[in-house]
Amino acid sequence: MGRISCGNRALVVVAAPAGPYIYGPQSLRETLVNYQYGSGPADVDEFFREKKSWSKVKDKIVGDYINCYLKTVPKLGRPILIVDAFAGPGRFGDGTDGSPLIICKAMRHAANRSSCLFADVSAGHRAALEENLSEYIEAGVCDHPYEDCERALTRAIEMGSGSTIFFYLDPYGIRDLEFDIVKQIYEREIKRSTEVLINFNFRTFMRMSGNWGFGDSASEVARKVKKSKIETVNSVMGGDYWQRIVCDPQLGKIEREDAVVNAYLERVREYFKYGYAIPVKERQEDEVGIPVDELAHYHLIFGTRSSRAVMYMNDVALNALDPYLRQFKDGLLFDFTPQRHLPVRRDVAKNAIVESVSERPLKRPEIYEAVIPRFFMHHKKKDYRAMVDELTFSENRLFADERAIKRRGQLNDEVRLSAKPWRV
Ligand SMILES: C[S@@+](CC[C@H](N)C(=O)[O-])C[C@H]1O[C@@H](n2cnc3c(N)ncnc32)[C@H](O)[C@@H]1O
Repeated sequence: MGRISCGNRALVVVAAPAGPYIYGPQSLRETLVNYQYGSGPADVDEFFREKKSWSKVKDKIVGDYINCYLKTVPKLGRPILIVDAFAGPGRFGDGTDGSPLIICKAMRHAANRSSCLFADVSAGHRAALEENLSEYIEAGVCDHPYEDCERALTRAIEMGSGSTIFFYLDPYGIRDLEFDIVKQIYEREIKRSTEVLINFNFRTFMRMSGNWGFGDSASEVARKVKKSKIETVNSVMGGDYWQRIVCDPQLGKIEREDAVVNAYLERVREYFKYGYAIPVKERQEDEVGIPVDELAHYHLIFGTRSSRAVMYMNDVALNALDPYLRQFKDGLLFDFTPQRHLPVRRDVAKNAIVESVSERPLKRPEIYEAVIPRFFMHHKKKDYRAMVDELTFSENRLFADERAIKRRGQLNDEVRLSAKPWRV
């Protein structure tokens, strides 16, 4: 058992009996953290006692993507800054890492010129965060946490004017995501790389926009919307366009979720070339019978100007959602994948591949970057690679520039592919 201080309180770190099932130094399952839980200023919220299964899905997306990010963006030759503006205490009571530790460990692993900036409005969380990040603060990887997201965002934009910046915004609800504040990020100089990942909580949106139910009539929804925190929701959504959607009697539960999220994405796409929503969903282990597609716990809104970033996030998101999506197929006689999660048919994706090289020959990675943004979260990169092989070697619809081929019958990333045969 170890003891670390947290402000004027003590955090007790309990080492569970080491068993044969704990693998590797990355596993923190052996450490339980006994924060003082509660809602007082020095406490840690109950939320952090144990990481929920859907938060694990979210954190897998954040961690896997940050790892890719830190491998790629150094090529831009700029300092790298990662901002986690709703950081939490850094570690959950069950010993698992929160986003700040996930980010700092990825940075240590990548060992490049990067730093991060954290904020949390709760004094108790900041105190715990300071403790949990102490080695990174000492090493100069990050500074002491800021007191609120607004200050952190402003500071990041000021100090990182020439930097490559990734913003992670993970509030409890949506109230703190005021569009005008978030917009500061979107409006960063276009020449600099800026990416955002925002946790948009549709369930909170529903509550704040009137707590309407899916069985409510259109007039009932309209009445509830009127009584809701309409101005707050308008300021989060960056307009009142959402009201038309929630009051539309034609839309069912799932369609309404999709329509609200897509409309919000349209706002994000005014600033970013690419904007996508990744639904955070987990497999229902205890469910019997055919699984039912449900509302997402939340959506991670991803904004970027880089098609390469889209390509990485595509695979990261599909890997994280894989257990959820597999439940509609695994052990079932038919494929019950819900319509909205069905990938585009392979023949359609193949046509898009051929179309991508119609103007000029492209190398394989360029093809992925042309096609994946059109079909985000449909197929993984390795599936496109297989399609390119089929188009080249079986279907004669792609033609390889033989000069770059190293092994007969095998493509590599340097080979250009064309829709027309090459002249020799
Ligand atoms: C969902 S939790 C973040 C969890 C964290 N990303 C993780 O993975 O461990 C949201 C956090 O935002 C903090 N928070 C709420 N309002 C805030 C604000 N205006 N500025 C900064 N932090 C805020 C809360 O205290 C809470 O710790």
